[in-house]
Amino acid sequence: MVKKKACVFISGSGTNLRSIISNSRDYNFPINICLVVSNNKKAKGIIYAKKFSIPHMSLSANKYDFEKTVIKTLNEKKIKLICLAGFMKILSKKFIREFKGEIINIHPSLLPMYKGLNTFQRVLKSKEKFTGCTVHFVDEKLDNGKIIIKKRVIIDKKDNVDTLKKKVQFQEYKAYSSAIRKIFSSG
Ligand code: GAR
Repeated sequence: MVKKKACVFISGSGTNLRSIISNSRDYNFPINICLVVSNNKKAKGIIYAKKFSIPHMSLSANKYDFEKTVIKTLNEKKIKLICLAGFMKILSKKFIREFKGEIINIHPSLLPMYKGLNTFQRVLKSKEKFTGCTVHFVDEKLDNGKIIIKKRVIIDKKDNVDTLKKKVQFQEYKAYSSAIRKIFSSG
């Protein structure tokens, strides 16, 4: 199988990156991670790029310079899929248009519910019975594009932000790779 070239954008701990890299090592997985991009030089997740000898770039520049440099590299490397995994910078409309249909994101809620930040705190405050995660295409509005996959998690009365985050992230690792498989299996 000829794998498509993909990259992962991160800002923090990179546990979704770790899971995608690990799945991408499977012969039948549709993508190869050829680049890891971080907007934070101190992002812990860079460790996984180093561990698996994946080229990486960390740029703490302003949005314009960041995107200009990244676009050049993505085009040079012929990247066909951009996976946002805990990437906390909002991309410009110009960037999103340039890679239309090729950017996906994971969000820690069942979209369209709880867009934006602090989802676990808000879900708990609203006494929801369940929550989850969503992998979706990125369009020009925040947490809005076409949904690829959602996974549900039941909220226990004893859950707090930490326990809920752990449960949701466990589902995120499965959801992200299933979403990538789904994109490429449907042509
Ligand atoms: C993930 O839980 C992801 O859903 C969330 O950041 C975390 C990153 O964890 N993304 C967002 O909140 C985007 N709005 P990781 O760096 O360990 O993969």
